[in-house]
Amino acid sequence: MACSSLDISAECLKLSQRKELPKHVAIIMDGNSRWAKAKGMPRIAGHREGAQSVKRCIKAAIHNNIEWLTLYTFSSENWRRTPEEVSDLTSLLKYYLKYEARQLHKEGIRVRIIGEIDRFDRKLQDEFSAIEQLTKKNNRLTLTLALSYGSRGEIVRAAQRIAEDIQQGNLTIDQVTENVFAKYLFAPDIPDPDMILRTSGECRLSNFLLWQSAYAELIFVDTLWPDFTENHFNAALETYVRRERRFGARPGL
Ligand code: IPE
Ligand code: IPE
Ligand code: MG
Repeated sequence: MACSSLDISAECLKLSQRKELPKHVAIIMDGNSRWAKAKGMPRIAGHREGAQSVKRCIKAAIHNNIEWLTLYTFSSENWRRTPEEVSDLTSLLKYYLKYEARQLHKEGIRVRIIGEIDRFDRKLQDEFSAIEQLTKKNNRLTLTLALSYGSRGEIVRAAQRIAEDIQQGNLTIDQVTENVFAKYLFAPDIPDPDMILRTSGECRLSNFLLWQSAYAELIFVDTLWPDFTENHFNAALETYVRRERRFGARPGL
């Protein structure tokens, strides 16, 4: 069982106004296939419905003045799914980016993509560049889509690039600090997530932001992603504001 309650009483909402909300929320959007199965529908129906939840979630993030929203959309490991499901997912992504680009731009959202982009077909890679380009000057919310993203792969890639720089004399071993290492990750300018939320009752990170999540508050909820609404988002923020973040320091200091 996941551990957050969905109680969003007036008292809770007051609490969130007093305490500091997360600047960066990252979400593992899980449970699309179980949602579809429960309804006797094909998996793609769950993914399609999940795309509607993405829109609701963006709205909720904006309403709460969240600056950074990162969505785990397709993992490096998701390529292991059947060719039909992979093809359905990439088609849905293509459709979403094509038809939502203008709306996202209109709403002042900057879109970023992280992951092994070159594993997608050329046309989709072009869509990624187009939406990043179109929205790059926006500053209301930075929406990062993690696509063909895997954290171990990201860390290995960073280590390879550091080794290259050392070999070429651009960097010394002593200069490789935590801060320098982080600069070699996919998006060094994006702050670490304050909160990572996973839907569908699974309590694991599944290779998502392993480096960046060192001090993130982890919140697991039972709701399946296609059922996720603005109220669920607000409830997760309520759970977050009740947590005490310590970063290794003694409580109360
Ligand atoms: C999440 O839904 C979407 C992706 C991983 C692409 P799933 O398809 O993993 O749904 P469940 O977890 O099997 O229900
Ligand atoms: C994680 O969900 C990836 C995304 C939500 C995009 P999975 O459904 O792929 O993760 P596991 O297999 O349950 O760990
Ligand atoms: Mg899943």
